[in-house]
Amino acid sequence: MGNVLAVVSQKGGVGKTTTAVNLAAAFARRGMKTLLVDVDPQGAVRYGVGLRADHATVGISDYISGAKSLRDVILPTALPWLRVILAGTVSAAANHLAYQRTMEESSVLAELLGMARQRTDVTVVDTPPGLGPTVERVLAASQHVIVPLQCEPLALQTTPQILRGIQDVVATNDELTLDGLVLTMYDPTSEASLRVSDYVRRHLPRNMVFDLVIPRSAAASEAFAAGQPVVLRSPADPVSQAYVNLATELAARFS
Ligand SMILES: Nc1ncnc2c1ncn2[C@@H]1O[C@H](COP(=O)(O)OP(=O)(O)OP(=O)(O)O)[C@@H](O)[C@H]1O
Ligand SMILES: [Mg+2]
Repeated sequence: MGNVLAVVSQKGGVGKTTTAVNLAAAFARRGMKTLLVDVDPQGAVRYGVGLRADHATVGISDYISGAKSLRDVILPTALPWLRVILAGTVSAAANHLAYQRTMEESSVLAELLGMARQRTDVTVVDTPPGLGPTVERVLAASQHVIVPLQCEPLALQTTPQILRGIQDVVATNDELTLDGLVLTMYDPTSEASLRVSDYVRRHLPRNMVFDLVIPRSAAASEAFAAGQPVVLRSPADPVSQAYVNLATELAARFS
């Protein structure tokens, strides 16, 4: 049986999608059978995961609405061991309310992640910001969760809130381990990065914060703009090495 790993954060724009895409690619490169699932109706995974230019744009919203079969929405990528389920047609819609309501009320997401767990080594789930009903549903069906924390001043104010929220959910799912916070966009020359890192390491238990950090690197945003995981596009860049090392640490924790 595989593991479902959720990438979750209270705040938006902290590097969740970048983390989910690159961990998924790094797991697949280790030869782990990997599925990346985008449950964020914004659908950003589609632009960064390295699909063919003419790929289908259907995804989880089309499966959940009953318009498509599971087989139709599992798409191949450039990596043989990596498949992806995009957000789907919902990402083109101006209003995501119907999608959110279905996610909240139906058990399809839990069933899908349960099935994915049986058929893959790891299923990585990219989520929308916040701890809304969709993210709660994901966490209820996950075994692992990591929380990217962007190294910027506001991080200090929001961290306790994020951890409380996640710990509440962890308490409702015996199988779920909070693997910890991962500092993202870390820049050793920036005062804010050093303050955030120092603060979380002083105030949180040691096992709640990964020692490794994801550095800020132009290669990360350039790869996203070019439609590819940075671990594939610029494997020698420090940001890629950090994601590969994070994947190695996480893989060692999977049962
Ligand atoms: N390590 C990094 N170095 C430089 N830029 C980065 C890094 N990680 C992410 N970025 C950039 O920061 C922006 C936000 O990243 P990303 O989309 O991964 O965040 P997110 O948490 O998924 O956002 P949202 O909450 O909107 O889904 C993107 O432009 C991305 O390219
Ligand atoms: Mg995102």
